[in-house]
Amino acid sequence: MNEGRVTRGQIKYFSRTVEPGLRGQVRRITQLRYRTPTEVAGAVTRKALRRNDKFRLLPFPQAVHIEITNQCNLACVMCPYPVMEREKGMMDEALFRRIVGELSDHRLLLENVAIMGLGEPMLNPRLEDFIVIAHEARIPNVYLSTNGTALTEKRARRLIEDGALGRIIISLDGASKETYESIRIGANFERVMENAERMIRLKKELGRLRPHVSLQILAMPQTESELDAFCERWAPLLGETDEILIKEVDTFGGQVDDIRLDEFKSAKPRIACRQLWKDMSISWDGRVTVCCKDVFYKLEVDRVAAEGDGPGLKDIWRSKTWQAYRRLHEGGHWNRMKPCDVCEEWAV
Ligand SMILES: C[S@@+](CC[C@H](N)C(=O)[O-])C[C@H]1O[C@@H](n2cnc3c(N)ncnc32)[C@H](O)[C@@H]1O
Ligand code: SF4
Repeated sequence: MNEGRVTRGQIKYFSRTVEPGLRGQVRRITQLRYRTPTEVAGAVTRKALRRNDKFRLLPFPQAVHIEITNQCNLACVMCPYPVMEREKGMMDEALFRRIVGELSDHRLLLENVAIMGLGEPMLNPRLEDFIVIAHEARIPNVYLSTNGTALTEKRARRLIEDGALGRIIISLDGASKETYESIRIGANFERVMENAERMIRLKKELGRLRPHVSLQILAMPQTESELDAFCERWAPLLGETDEILIKEVDTFGGQVDDIRLDEFKSAKPRIACRQLWKDMSISWDGRVTVCCKDVFYKLEVDRVAAEGDGPGLKDIWRSKTWQAYRRLHEGGHWNRMKPCDVCEEWAV
């Protein structure tokens, strides 16, 4: 692939969003102007608490995924959704408010909060209301990824005018109708491209910087020959805070077929996975797991409920079960945990 593309400002490789060295520092500093004061204060707080130890356990997770629905209208070929056996449903407002209330208490420790899990978040008709609730609770960096099928003009307008969403990733895997529709089974190429174009056009018309729009293509065998065409098609349309995101396809913790391109396979020796010290994912019905790749909730730690005396997220984060998982990783025994035993995406 053409390395030069990476330096063209708004075209990024997913795995290089946090670049090492001077270039990374420059990038982080220039991006500060798009950060809210809470987001900046949070980054400084986490750094101070961690004291250069990546595995120091902070009082609360840094990245949280809230799956407001696990229903989907597509069956994409690289996604675990089509083989998911969990019961399907939508998160209700009471549970969402309960979760957000606790996140708000610890917002200085949060880097970002994704309003999605496995499934299509825009299928939850309360999505826009939930984003506003999170914003009013001053949750930093609220974002989501959508397949774009339900991103109508009305919904795009509301997402922009509310100004509550930090970033929207629109999944557009392919530059041609043939490729896109062979990957994103059930979607219509023309309609989704029109929805994405309208989103960035409306933002410009309304003079808004938020939400930042990331037009995402997964780098995989089916799309590899279309990456340049994808960039050429979208780059001229981008607004100031928009970007093209080339994300490498992965195995979702070893739970889907491995179709990664060779250049993205790592030969590094495996170590404890930092996800267990950073991440928390919550399903639509309140199950809590340790990693966003654990979409089948094999590592479910506990459940959070809208009401009652059950544990809070902070209790679950420091619970015996979660600590036991961390100890297994520290001792190099990740093969005793599923899906960690077959995972290819362990984080450093
Ligand atoms: C599971 S989807 C849920 C959100 C939404 N339905 C969508 O398609 O954007 C979350 C993200 O995972 C990405 N994704 C799906 N399968 C993947 C895989 N095997 N490797 C890497 N990313 C994947 C999607 O492109 C999307 O950006
Ligand atoms: S990638 Fe998103 S749209 Fe495609 S099947 Fe998975 S959840 Fe649905």
